[in-house]
Amino acid sequence: MTTWTRLALGLLLPQIVLSSPVPEAIPEPVKLEQRDDASEGYNSPAYYPTPHGGWVSDWAEAYEKAYQVVSNMTLAEKVNLTTGTGFFMGPCVGQTGSAPRFGIPNICLQDSPLGIRNSDHNTAFPPGITTGATFNKELMYARGVAIGEEARGKGVNVQLGPSVGALGRKPRGGRNWEGFGADPVLQAIGGAQTIKGMQSTGAIAALKHFIGNEQEMYRMSSIITQGYSSNIDDRTLHELYLWPFAEGVRAGVGSVMTAYNSVNSSACSQNSKLLNGVLKEELGFQGFVMTDWLGHYGGVASALAGLDMCMPGDGAVPLFGDSYWGPELSRSILNGSVPVSRLNDMVTRIVATWYKLGQDKDYPLPNFSTNTQDEKGPYYPGALFSPSGVVNQFVNVQSDHNITARAVAREAVTLLKNEQGILPLRRNDSLKVFGSDAGGNPDGLNSCNDQGCDKGVLTMGWGSGTARLPYLITPQEAIANISKTAQFYITDSFPKDVTATSKDIAVVFINADSGENYITVEGNPGDRTKAGLNAWHNGDDLVKAAAEKFSNVVVVVHTVGPILMEEWIDLKSVKAVVVAHLPGQEAGNSLTDVLFGDYSPSGHLPYSIPRSESDYPESVGIIDDQPFGQIQDTFTEGLYIDYRHFLKANVTPRYPFGHGLSYTTFKLSNPTISEVTAIDSAYPPTRPTKGSTPVYNNSIPAASEVAWSSTSFTRIWRYLYPYLDNPESISASDEYPYPDGYNTTQPESRAGGGEGGNPALFKTASTVQVTVTNNGARRGKAVPQLYVELPSSLGLDTPSLQLRQFEKTKELAPGQSETVTLEITRKDLSVWDVEVQDWKAPVNGEGVKLWIGQSVGDLPIVCVVGEKCSFQ
Ligand SMILES: *[C@@H]1O[C@H](CO)[C@@H](O)[C@H](O)[C@H]1NC(C)=O
Ligand SMILES: *[C@@H]1O[C@H](CO)[C@@H](O)[C@H](O)[C@H]1NC(C)=O
Ligand SMILES: *[C@@H]1O[C@H](CO)[C@@H](O)[C@H](O)[C@H]1NC(C)=O
Ligand SMILES: *[C@@H]1O[C@H](CO)[C@@H](O)[C@H](O)[C@H]1NC(C)=O
Ligand SMILES: *[C@@H]1O[C@H](CO)[C@@H](O)[C@H](O)[C@H]1NC(C)=O
Ligand SMILES: *[C@@H]1O[C@H](CO)[C@@H](O)[C@H](O)[C@H]1NC(C)=O
Ligand SMILES: *[C@@H]1O[C@H](CO)[C@@H](O)[C@H](O)[C@H]1NC(C)=O
Ligand SMILES: *[C@@H]1O[C@H](CO)[C@@H](O)[C@H](O)[C@H]1NC(C)=O
Ligand SMILES: *[C@@H]1O[C@H](CO)[C@@H](O)[C@H](O)[C@H]1NC(C)=O
Ligand SMILES: *[C@@H]1O[C@H](CO)[C@@H](O)[C@H](O)[C@H]1NC(C)=O
Repeated sequence: MTTWTRLALGLLLPQIVLSSPVPEAIPEPVKLEQRDDASEGYNSPAYYPTPHGGWVSDWAEAYEKAYQVVSNMTLAEKVNLTTGTGFFMGPCVGQTGSAPRFGIPNICLQDSPLGIRNSDHNTAFPPGITTGATFNKELMYARGVAIGEEARGKGVNVQLGPSVGALGRKPRGGRNWEGFGADPVLQAIGGAQTIKGMQSTGAIAALKHFIGNEQEMYRMSSIITQGYSSNIDDRTLHELYLWPFAEGVRAGVGSVMTAYNSVNSSACSQNSKLLNGVLKEELGFQGFVMTDWLGHYGGVASALAGLDMCMPGDGAVPLFGDSYWGPELSRSILNGSVPVSRLNDMVTRIVATWYKLGQDKDYPLPNFSTNTQDEKGPYYPGALFSPSGVVNQFVNVQSDHNITARAVAREAVTLLKNEQGILPLRRNDSLKVFGSDAGGNPDGLNSCNDQGCDKGVLTMGWGSGTARLPYLITPQEAIANISKTAQFYITDSFPKDVTATSKDIAVVFINADSGENYITVEGNPGDRTKAGLNAWHNGDDLVKAAAEKFSNVVVVVHTVGPILMEEWIDLKSVKAVVVAHLPGQEAGNSLTDVLFGDYSPSGHLPYSIPRSESDYPESVGIIDDQPFGQIQDTFTEGLYIDYRHFLKANVTPRYPFGHGLSYTTFKLSNPTISEVTAIDSAYPPTRPTKGSTPVYNNSIPAASEVAWSSTSFTRIWRYLYPYLDNPESISASDEYPYPDGYNTTQPESRAGGGEGGNPALFKTASTVQVTVTNNGARRGKAVPQLYVELPSSLGLDTPSLQLRQFEKTKELAPGQSETVTLEITRKDLSVWDVEVQDWKAPVNGEGVKLWIGQSVGDLPIVCVVGEKCSFQ
C-alpha cells in the first residue's frame, strides 16, 4: 500500500499498465495486449468460470441471508459493493460503496496485521515474526482476539491481516517480519490462530498477500516495467507457499488479498488459475478476494479471473476518479463482457461474509480517520473540495491488550547462547548498557511516517504493516526501573571514556530493520539491499568494542529476520545472546521480564541464523537490477528454502530453525505414537460433492439502474460511483470473445471439497505423545517440535525434515512434567502429486518417520508410523 509519496510518483509517471497484467489471451475488442510468455515454460493456464460461493454448509445460512438481499439489488448497488470509493475517499485506507436500502454501509478496510494503522488509542502489538517465535498457539489466538476487538471498536469491518506471504523465501525480503516465520506450517498455525481470534470478535480478517510476494523491489507496475513474475512450479506452490493460505481458508477467513506481483507472468489480481482454480475451487474459499492497494490492473480480465473487490478503487492513475471497475464494471455488465452471474457471485460473497461475521448486528461505523490525527477534517481529502466535520473521535480501544502485547513479546524472547549462567541478570549486577537500540527515538514517538526510520529501539519494521505506538517502554526505561546503578550509553559508536571493572556486565543492543518498498530507509528500499544481513549502525563494531573492554557481554538483538553474528559470536567475552525480535510497544518490559529472570526465555527461532549469506541458494537473493520488461524471478530452489536447504546442502547454520534455550533444561521421555485414522489408500477418499449455491436471475438488468439521471444526490468530485451517463446507449453483444479456455461449466478439483481442501486431508492420522520434564533449577516453558521425514518410496525429492506440529507446555516448575500431544494429519504426511493433482501419502504411513525434539538441529526421538518411538 502506498502513501502520498507513492501517490505523487503515480501522478508523475502515469502508470500506463504495460502489456502483461492480463492473464489470459485477451481477444481483440478488449484492446488489452496479451501478456508476455513467462520464462522457462512457466505459464498460468486458464481456469474458468469462477466457482460460485455458498456450497459449504458452515456458510449456508450466511449465503441464504445474502441471497435475500442480493436478489433484490439493483446493478448500481451491486457494483457499489465491489468497488472502492477511491484513494482518500473516506475514513479508512479503503472502503466500498454502500447499499443503504439494505442497511449495508460502506465497508471499511484498514491496515495492519499488528494493530490499527494511522489511528490513536490503539495497541501496537508485536508483529507476526515475534508472534511466530512464541510457538504459543494460545497467545497467537489471544493476540488475534485483541486485534479484532480494536478493529471492531474503531468501526473497521475488514482488518488487513494476517500476512503469511511473504513466506520468508528471501532472507533480505522487506516484509518477512509481518508473517510468522520461514516455514509453511509455522505460518499456517500463526495465520489460522490469528484469524480465528480476530474473527471471534466479528471483524473480518484479510489473509495476504496471495501469492509469491517474496521481495519488495519491483513488485508493482510502473511506466518502464511490470511487477516481477514469481515463477513457481505446482508442487512448490502447494507444499510451501499455498500451505498457510489453505489453513487460513480452513480457519474460515472472510477475505483474501492478492499480491502485487505476477505468478507465471499473470498478475495475481487477475490470474484465473490462482483465484478461480486454486483458491476458490481447490481450497473451497467462500469469502471474497480483494486487490492490494492499486494492485488492480484490468477490469474485465480481473472479474472473469475471480476478483471480487478492487481496492481502493482507483484505476491506473490514482485520484483521477477513474476505476477499472465502478462505472466500467456497470458498463461491462450492460455490454455483456462480464456475465451477470459473475457479478452476482462477487456481491454475494461480500454480503455473505458480512452476515457470517454478524456485522449486520450493531457493528460500529468508523469513528477514526486514517488521513489525519486532527479531530476535524475533510471527509474525502482526495476530493480537494469536500464536506468536513468531526473525523476522529479518539475512541480508546486498548482495553487491557497491553498485557497480551507484553506476553507475546516476552514469550518470543529467544535465548541463543548463555555461558556460565550469565543470564538471568541479578538486580544488583553492575550494568553498562550500549546502543541506540536501547533507547527511544530522539525525534519523538511515531515521528517517522509508518515507522520509516531506524531510530531507537526497533519495535516493528516499516510500511503499511505498522501502527502508531500509543506509548513505548524502552529497554533503557525498563532496565533503569530495575537496576538503580545501570549506566546507559545510548549511542551507536562505543564511547571512548567508558571504564570497565571485572564485575561489570556490558549489555549491547543492536538491530536490523526492513519494510515496505514505498519508503527507503538508510539506503534500503524495503528489502535489505544495502544492509544485507548485517546489523545496522555498525552494530558488529559496537559488540566487538564492548567485548574488547568487558569480560562479560550480553548482546540483545532486535531484528526483522536472520542476522549475521559471525564477527563476534565466538568472542570469549560474548557470554549471552538474546534475540528479542520486534517487540512492539512493550519492548522494555517484555525484555526485562526475561533478562532479570522473572520468566525463563521460551522463544524459538522462526528461521535459521546462517554463518554466511552465501550459505543460502543463489536464487533467493533480491533481484535489484532493473531490466526492461518483466523481471522473471524463478523459484529454482523449489522446496529448499531456509532449513530445508541447509539440510540438503549439508550446511550447519550458526543456529538452527526452532532453536531457543531456557534458564532451565527439559528432558523428553516416554514418546508414544498411535494411529487414529488409517491411511489405507495413497490418495484421499473421494471428495464430498458441493452443496447448492444461490440461483439468481442472470439476465442483463435495465440500463436505467446505473443512470446518473436516476440519482439525486450531490456528487463528490473524483469519488467512484457505479453510475454512467446515458447507459441506455450500451448494448450487449453476444459476440464477446472470452479468453481462451473460457468455459461456463463449473469445474471441480479432486483435491477440493471443503474449506482448505478435501476434508479427508485434515483428519488426524497419528498422534505422538511425549512427556516433557523440567529437569533444571528454574521455572520455564518448553516447545516440543515434530518434523516429518517422508520415505523415498514416494519417488519424489523431498526435504529430509519438515516441521509439521509443535506445542508449548505450560510453565513447568523444576521437577514438574507435562505430556503433550502432537497431532498429524493425512496432509502432513503427503506430497502434492502434480500428475494426479491431488495429495499423495504413503499407504499406512509406511516408512514415515516423525522426529521430535527442541529444534530442527536437536531431534533425539524418532517415531515410526505404525511401529514405535525410540531415542537416537
Ligand atoms: C506455473 O508454471 C509451472 C511450470 O509450468 C506450473 O507447474 C504451475 O502450475 C504454474 N502455476 C500457475 C499458478 O499457473
Ligand atoms: C426480496 O424480494 C423478495 C420478493 O421479490 C421478498 O420476498 C424478500 O423479502 C425481499 N428481501 C429483502 C431483504 O428485501
Ligand atoms: C453507492 O454508494 C454511495 C456511497 O459510497 C452511496 O452514496 C450511494 O447511494 C450508493 N448507491 C446506491 C444505489 O445505493
Ligand atoms: C464492455 O465494457 C468494458 C468496460 O469498459 C470494456 O472493457 C469492454 O471492452 C467492453 N466490451 C465490449 C464488447 O464492448
Ligand atoms: C465509534 O465508537 C463508538 C464506541 O465504540 C461506537 O459506539 C460508535 O458506533 C462508533 N462509530 C461512530 C460513527 O460513532
Ligand atoms: C496496561 O493496561 C492496564 C489496563 O488498561 C492499565 O491499567 C495499565 O496502566 C496499562 N499499562 C501501561 C504501561 O500503559
Ligand atoms: C549481588 O548480591 C549478591 C547477594 O545477594 C552478592 O553475592 C553479589 O556479590 C552482589 N553483586 C554485586 C555486583 O554487588
Ligand atoms: C517499575 O518497576 C515496578 C516494580 O517492579 C513496576 O511496578 C512498574 O510497573 C515499573 N515501571 C515501568 C515503567 O516499567
Ligand atoms: C430477470 O431479469 C430481467 C431483467 O431485469 C427481467 O426482465 C425478467 O423479468 C427477470 N426474470 C424473472 C423470472 O424474474
Ligand atoms: C468445459 O468444461 C467441461 C467440464 O470440465 C469440459 O468437458 C469441456 O470440454 C470444456 N469446454 C471447453 C470449451 O473448454
